[in-house]
Amino acid sequence: MHFIPEDLDNYVVNHSEDEPELLQQLSRETYQKILQPRMLSGHYQGRVLSMISKLINPKNILEIGTYTGYSALCLAEGMKSNGELHTIDIDEELFDFQRRYFDKSTYGKQIFQHLGNALDIIPKLDMVFDLVFIDADKENYSNYFNAIINKLNTGGIILSDNVLWSGKVLDKTFKKDDTSTPALIEYNTSLKNDKRIETVLLPIRDGLTISRKM
Ligand SMILES: C[S@@+](CC[C@H](N)C(=O)[O-])C[C@H]1O[C@@H](n2cnc3c(N)ncnc32)[C@H](O)[C@@H]1O
Repeated sequence: MHFIPEDLDNYVVNHSEDEPELLQQLSRETYQKILQPRMLSGHYQGRVLSMISKLINPKNILEIGTYTGYSALCLAEGMKSNGELHTIDIDEELFDFQRRYFDKSTYGKQIFQHLGNALDIIPKLDMVFDLVFIDADKENYSNYFNAIINKLNTGGIILSDNVLWSGKVLDKTFKKDDTSTPALIEYNTSLKNDKRIETVLLPIRDGLTISRKM
């Protein structure tokens, strides 16, 4: 969904960093071979994630929802040279695809994949993070937040993707079987009211919230 006119959106993309060659390859192969390729962050949002990560220069990064590894590689661009990126996905069919691209990058040895339900895996990660990217099932965003907030350093950042959900967060009449929209509405309100963090919701792509732990 375009929240700004398409020609202005193209202008924004054309005046931002180009997409690195490896990520172009990854994107092409995802669109050729993998179901639901629109889940991939893509060129513009990927450059935003890369820039945010470079500004933070995190030691440890956690990603919840790897898919084919696009956003993990973008976030890894800002990681410290001795840093680690841990990324979780429940879909075992994506595991080898992710690994192949991680190993083609210069960050391969610093990227650790975790296969399974993020809510089971996060409590077992015995480390603290400087940057967390939440981009898995929308129904569990609040659960992911609660699971990681005590594993986030002071000043650490949580990025939450798809928080505008194609604008559906404004819709008070969502369908009965739509569990994502009410979960995101509740999540966005809880971020705004949580005194442990400060939050800005950016209207980038499908909505990206930056929350900083105080
Ligand atoms: C939107 S995609 C992630 C896209 C990726 N971050 C990117 O930008 O390229 C969401 C991913 O979350 C994974 N996922 C869904 N529920 C999950 C869960 N409970 N635990 C871990 N991963 C989950 C899905 O398998 C899917 O690959």
